[in-house]
Amino acid sequence: MTTVAASTLRQRDADHIVHPYADQKAVAASGPLIIARGEGVYVYDTEGRRYLEGMAGLWSTSLGFSEPRLAEAAARQFAKLPYSQIFGDRSHEPGILLAERLTKIAPQGLNHVLFASSGSESIDAAAKLVWYYHNQIGKPAKKKLIARISGYHGVTVAGGSLTGQPHVHADFDLPIAGILHTDCPSYYQFGKGDESVAQFVERIAGNLEALILREGPETVGAFFAEPVMGAGGVIVPPAGYFARIQEILRKYDILFVVDEVITGFARTGEMFGSFTYDLKPDMMVVAKALSSSYLPISAVLLTDRIFDAVAQGAAKNGVFGHGLTYAAHPVCAAVALETLAIYRERDIVAHVKEMTPHLQEGLAALQNHPLIGEARGVGLIGAVELTRSKSTREGFDPKLGLGAFIQSRALAHGVILRVLRNAVAVCPPLVVTPAEIEELLNGLRRALDDGLKHAREKGWM
Ligand SMILES: Cc1ncc(COP(=O)(O)O)c(C=O)c1O
Repeated sequence: MTTVAASTLRQRDADHIVHPYADQKAVAASGPLIIARGEGVYVYDTEGRRYLEGMAGLWSTSLGFSEPRLAEAAARQFAKLPYSQIFGDRSHEPGILLAERLTKIAPQGLNHVLFASSGSESIDAAAKLVWYYHNQIGKPAKKKLIARISGYHGVTVAGGSLTGQPHVHADFDLPIAGILHTDCPSYYQFGKGDESVAQFVERIAGNLEALILREGPETVGAFFAEPVMGAGGVIVPPAGYFARIQEILRKYDILFVVDEVITGFARTGEMFGSFTYDLKPDMMVVAKALSSSYLPISAVLLTDRIFDAVAQGAAKNGVFGHGLTYAAHPVCAAVALETLAIYRERDIVAHVKEMTPHLQEGLAALQNHPLIGEARGVGLIGAVELTRSKSTREGFDPKLGLGAFIQSRALAHGVILRVLRNAVAVCPPLVVTPAEIEELLNGLRRALDDGLKHAREKGWM
């Protein structure tokens, strides 16, 4: 319980907090859900109501909400050296050990680590490195960045531009010049008529190649993609998709930046989504589960050839002109190191593999629900897609508010889910048990039943 009454907290919130991704007036009118404490996969609000955190916060709190070893690791580091920096020739032990550990578990060849504090910052750093690299290798025209419609890469100027969602661009004057978007690989949403999955993959890969040729391959520097799109509605890539995409990238000498901000650290049932989908990143961005999100820390991992360009540019310019005050922050790094140690000791990959059928079979069973057009997922991330008609696959107009209704009904049933347009997403902490997965699925099913009743009463289907 908090010491301040919830009602006054709500008013103060309305008076002062700018809520990310919110309709400010609506939040002020309804009042925020104020979370006061956490335990395991559960969080508790200021009234003491318990919720199963089916989204692990923002796809992030992998070890749940009460891992004492992370608090102890932070306390130890706070006592020893609460802050130090790594500019120039300075360094510190937690940063060094974390960089080394990350390169050991990462896909082969990612031998160097550039730290930051958030996914967006690291995506921006990766974009800058694409530009820096091509300047060093004498290809200064090769600067355009391609990302995907519905993809999510954060909100900073480059990251927000790469994000393929209109509300991230609207009125922010984004995307900036030189950023292009290609197809979203959702076969359910964009497969045409009787097109097979293989034909769909061929068509959208063909569109990517046509885009590259139209722009001129000598002007395209990199392709950014999440192994599984998260905020775009949990879009799992169709079979063969990434193999074709990587073939095209290789053909035109285009760097592949893999955004593992959600998929990193076992979420898909392997340590990285890159292993699940056989991706060969030139750069890989990680954040969130790197520290179980207990403290902010992120990184871009890069290959020798990108690092060589960094070294070359630094020699030319006198310095590598990029750096953040909190890069490899020692307390954040110590907590990340402890997080990685816990993943190894508890074999988090094996645990996720064991839990996967419980979640994925439960979601698949919802495919028969009258409101659901598709159930999908991999590892411990998934979604069900709302539809008015299984035959036409038509979704609901977001203005009707069915998604928000289902989300609020899930809360009433003690479960936190997230509705992204017509997708109801689940992404529980990786430490979830079979019984907790069952509880999550029950809450989801009950919320969908409430949603179906509501949609029928309103005449929406
Ligand atoms: C795939 C992906 N990339 C980047 C980001 C941005 O990370 P942050 O919110 O830490 O800036 C997110 C955030 O959800 C994400 O899901």
